[in-house]
Amino acid sequence: MDNRTQHAPDSETNQTPLPWGGAGGGFSRIILIGYMGAGKTTVGKALSKELGMPFYDLDWYIESRRRKTIPQIFAELGEEGFRNIERNMLHEVAEFEDVIISCGGGTPCFFDNMDYMNQQGQVVYLRCEPDVLEKHLRMGKVERPLIKGKNAEELTAFIREQLDYREQFYNKARYTLDVSLMDNYDKIKITIEKLKELLSLVP
Ligand code: S3P
Repeated sequence: MDNRTQHAPDSETNQTPLPWGGAGGGFSRIILIGYMGAGKTTVGKALSKELGMPFYDLDWYIESRRRKTIPQIFAELGEEGFRNIERNMLHEVAEFEDVIISCGGGTPCFFDNMDYMNQQGQVVYLRCEPDVLEKHLRMGKVERPLIKGKNAEELTAFIREQLDYREQFYNKARYTLDVSLMDNYDKIKITIEKLKELLSLVP
């Protein structure tokens, strides 16, 4: 039977069973990937509220498990050390059931992380225009070691170059959603609706 068509809300929990398993029908994970500043955390939190599924941000998870901030880990262990930790922590969170996970911008681009994520869940690439990423990163309050200290010109070049390289990994995601226009609450809501449609979660 095609279980993609079974998504009427469960009468007891009032949760919509996810078409590929999920609440009431096995387990599932939605994994959000995309460049720094694309809005992975914003989308993850909003989708978590909408679907009643717990949300894990991989960076926050790393910080709480290591009791250190991401910049501290980069400063102490370098990028290589951070990537090893990131992979190990990814393997922890991606074992949780019925969760939404947002990854760091670099997570899909190291080791076999992208293949592992595709195996563990429904991976969605949140694609965003470089101009918008740049705007978000300039406004962002989170300290990001990879772009720290770059002037405007350097940041523009860095984003374009790195995005160009990283897209080969991001494009391995099962789903892609453009999130370039997510600049107010209503547009975030529209993005969530589109995401639900993409994941066949709309009854
Ligand atoms: C990184 C992105 C960051 C964080 C780290 C490295 C990257 O996460 O994991 O600073 O390589 O793109 P966000 O994408 O949540 O900013």
